[in-house]
Amino acid sequence: MSATVVEIVKSKNLKQKPNDDKLGFGKYFTDHMFVMDYTSEKGWIQPKITPYEPISLDPAAVIFHYGQTVFEGMKAYRTSDNKILLFRPDENFKRLNMSSERLAMPPVNEEEVLEYLKQLINVEKDWVPTAEGTSLYIRPFIIATEAFLGLAASKQYKLVMILSPVGSYYTGGIKPVSIKVEEHYTRAVRGGTGMAKTAGNYCATFNAQTKATSEGFTQVLWLDAIEKKYVEEVGTSNAFFKVNGEVITPELSGSILPGITRKSVIEMLKDWGVPVTERKVSIEEIFQYHKEGTLEEVFSTGTAAVISSIGELEWNGQKITVNNNKIGDLSQKLYDTLTGIQTGKIADPYNWTTEV
Ligand code: COI
Repeated sequence: MSATVVEIVKSKNLKQKPNDDKLGFGKYFTDHMFVMDYTSEKGWIQPKITPYEPISLDPAAVIFHYGQTVFEGMKAYRTSDNKILLFRPDENFKRLNMSSERLAMPPVNEEEVLEYLKQLINVEKDWVPTAEGTSLYIRPFIIATEAFLGLAASKQYKLVMILSPVGSYYTGGIKPVSIKVEEHYTRAVRGGTGMAKTAGNYCATFNAQTKATSEGFTQVLWLDAIEKKYVEEVGTSNAFFKVNGEVITPELSGSILPGITRKSVIEMLKDWGVPVTERKVSIEEIFQYHKEGTLEEVFSTGTAAVISSIGELEWNGQKITVNNNKIGDLSQKLYDTLTGIQTGKIADPYNWTTEV
């Protein structure tokens, strides 16, 4: 499939690239971005690659008032023989359309947008970092641009894709993180927008996250909105528990993001013959497993977070330490296999990677 980008406007002021050991997450942006507009009369029009620059919008644009927006997160990796690989990008664009549907936004042509992304990465290929644990994070997003204050879906949109060279999401890298179970606030509710990748689900976590950070925790674990009992997700990632040899992860209830790393981990575990169950799991049950000595590993999965080991969990005034605050063998094997496939270090038996 070849979708030609009608216009490439090259930047005249190329930036100095940061050192790979200083990247952190989401702080640096490349020289160019992709932009495409939508109108209800013409559909998606004018795909172009332009210098990375501010976007000018009418102050009445729907995005500012009613938050009509969706986004994705994906990564490109440099292999040792200098190829650039994308990991399951078709899944990201499929999910983008699923999120758009929930937010009453128009779908994109998934194959075409993937071709546009490849063209953008080709323009920016020198920005794909090389150091171990680094990648080029890709953030496609769509915003509602129509200037209209009536409460209705916008008739105009902008799809933008920006690129950011990144290292690990957590400052401590692969070291196990400490998580606080949020007992007061709710991230998302079934029937709401929890399973869509939309801004409101994320800013709804900021106050609890700020408080948890000030108390020394890395992240917040969210419970279901109705009974405040069942584990949902970590906000940046999906949660997994290894109990007595079996891996348990919350089933997709409608308020949990269907993570692509989550899906890949489940597929790998099944392939390895590790029992894996998607079901409702209560936080009380997890603490009970710990008491009985059967809670072996806790980890979370996401594009930004990759496989992140969880070493401490606090809930209801009790703090437990999992696996002596060390990365478990299964978490490590999942991390090594996943990143090995993503970076082309090991064979990709599942056909998950696509060369740019
Ligand atoms: C991702 O993993 O790509 C995400 O979107 C998480 C982000 C909110 C940091």
